[in-house]
Amino acid sequence: MCGIVGYVGPKQAQDVVIDGLRRLEYRGYDSAGIALVADSALAVSKKAGKLANLEKAIAEQPLPPSHTGVGHTRWATHGAPNDVNAHPHVGHLHGSPDSPGAGRVALVHNGIIENFAELRSRLEADDITLVSETDTEVAAQLLELQLQSGLDLTVAMQRVCQQLEGAFTLVAVDALDPERVVAARRNSPLVVGLGEGENFLGSDVAAFIEHTRDALELGQDQVVTITRSGVEVTDFYGVPQEGRHYHVDWDLSSAEKEGHDWFMRKEIFEQPRAVADSLLGRRTATGQLQLDEMRLSDQELRDIDKIIIIAAGTSFYAGMVAKYAIEHWTRIPVEVELSSEFRYRDPILDYSTLVVAISQSGETADTLQAIRHARTQRSKVLAICNTNGSTIPRESDAVIYTHAGPEIGVASTKGFLTQLVACYLLALYLAQVKGTRFGDEITEVVTQLEAIPAQIESVLDGADSVYALARSHASARSVLFLGRHAGYPVALEGALKLKEIAYLHAEGFAAGELKHGPIALIEPGIPVFCVVPPQGRDQLHDKMLSGIQEVRARGARTICLAEEGDERIEPYADHLIRLPRVPVLLQPLVAVVPLQLFACELASLLGHDVDQPRNLAKSVTVE
Ligand code: F6R
Repeated sequence: MCGIVGYVGPKQAQDVVIDGLRRLEYRGYDSAGIALVADSALAVSKKAGKLANLEKAIAEQPLPPSHTGVGHTRWATHGAPNDVNAHPHVGHLHGSPDSPGAGRVALVHNGIIENFAELRSRLEADDITLVSETDTEVAAQLLELQLQSGLDLTVAMQRVCQQLEGAFTLVAVDALDPERVVAARRNSPLVVGLGEGENFLGSDVAAFIEHTRDALELGQDQVVTITRSGVEVTDFYGVPQEGRHYHVDWDLSSAEKEGHDWFMRKEIFEQPRAVADSLLGRRTATGQLQLDEMRLSDQELRDIDKIIIIAAGTSFYAGMVAKYAIEHWTRIPVEVELSSEFRYRDPILDYSTLVVAISQSGETADTLQAIRHARTQRSKVLAICNTNGSTIPRESDAVIYTHAGPEIGVASTKGFLTQLVACYLLALYLAQVKGTRFGDEITEVVTQLEAIPAQIESVLDGADSVYALARSHASARSVLFLGRHAGYPVALEGALKLKEIAYLHAEGFAAGELKHGPIALIEPGIPVFCVVPPQGRDQLHDKMLSGIQEVRARGARTICLAEEGDERIEPYADHLIRLPRVPVLLQPLVAVVPLQLFACELASLLGHDVDQPRNLAKSVTVE
């Protein structure tokens, strides 16, 4: 949640900060703001709404030239999304809660300061009146007081962080110290971009990828000071610390739309490559599976007798598919749990439980707290993650990185497909290590996985007919999705995509559950997407056909996704979308693609902002 940028160097800070915010806007777009240091004063501009509003404000009232600045794009937590609550927040001189610029410090913040009410009362008791409803302004004012007591910004930040509880990334500038930007992090993302004669701060590397691909990952509870020539990291008590250097292996063009109208559409079409990249280098010369980043030993994996998968939203649905695959191929029992529920139900865990945390962003607060809880119970944690340097893999015992590249559209697409690939690889690797009876088939499944990118390509070739289908449903008020087995999570994901970007009532069901209630929703004309399992699994296929007949008999309009050559489906499909032939466990990789295309096109036709749907943010860093 919230995007943060900091810069010091020879370039115009306004340009660097605004460009960085543009690439971080997916993290929150309730308001945007910038603070520059120029002529021993702060120049601040901030506006409710999207970044475009801020740019307009700056065009009308230009900011002075400056080489040091911070910026913020907000997903509101404390306080309504208006101009006053927008970041940056500035400190006030004692007793003068007036216009921006009154104090020396300007601060941007991502996260929640949990003890802000208590800190606010203390400030108010000291005659300091705050102007916004935010927790951030409290931290800005605490920093201001430290500066006024004679400390420099770095030490002031350390002192303030010692007083704060909760999750935060803070980035600040001091009007009287124009060559320095100071930041701090606890449970909230922050990376440093290392340039030549310039340095950067960002919530993620997209903030500065245009300028440098050398980055420094920070640990928990650290303060970082950047100047033109250097970067210094300490803990909250001033003890020097080391960050981890890494090289970002994706470039600016990956973060731009490349001719598509929406990032989401571009990302849907990138899926063949994303899946292929996620499979790269996973086989040794002798045909064995290898997972490079797997830091758990084979013996540790053999000792596992239970797996709990934790995740949120779309990643949770990837976890549901993983359960089917892992249990089938390894015979290890698997539970799948929403991360927001996990630690509050007192789960049964021990050293022989493997907790698998699936997170595209690697920053989802619910999932992060869940893995922390798991580790206190001595369980091993393995992360499946798309974001190098993010918190969840850093706090896990092992990680499998998906190689989707940056996912900018708020609705996850290629993130989901590559999570599925990582889950299949994990399942197969466990089967290999444990030597299950399924062992002989591992090579065959890997070969089937390697064929998937071309099969997704063939689904994408049919995009125009899915778009036509979306056009004919532009006035739908409600859409249902049915699936069985691995098709059930696909149905849930299809419904989620429609809800989040088309703002439409949509629900996914296990087809077998229909008769237990949901069938009452069926009324004449209601569109029902049906994910039909491959014909090989006769029972599944037959049962699905019965479900489809039941809804059709009650007037539903059935849109069936069925494999090539499945002729038995034809009499029951009002509209048929053909899928390539793949085994049932791998079918989600191809079946979800038309549902993504449908949602993207429908939302676009309805005039919605597909990449930045209302009320959502890409990375949910608050619980
Ligand atoms: C839906 C979507 C969200 C995320 C969820 C978890 O399209 O993107 O439901 O899947 O917020 O996010 P990560 O995977 O970053 O932990």
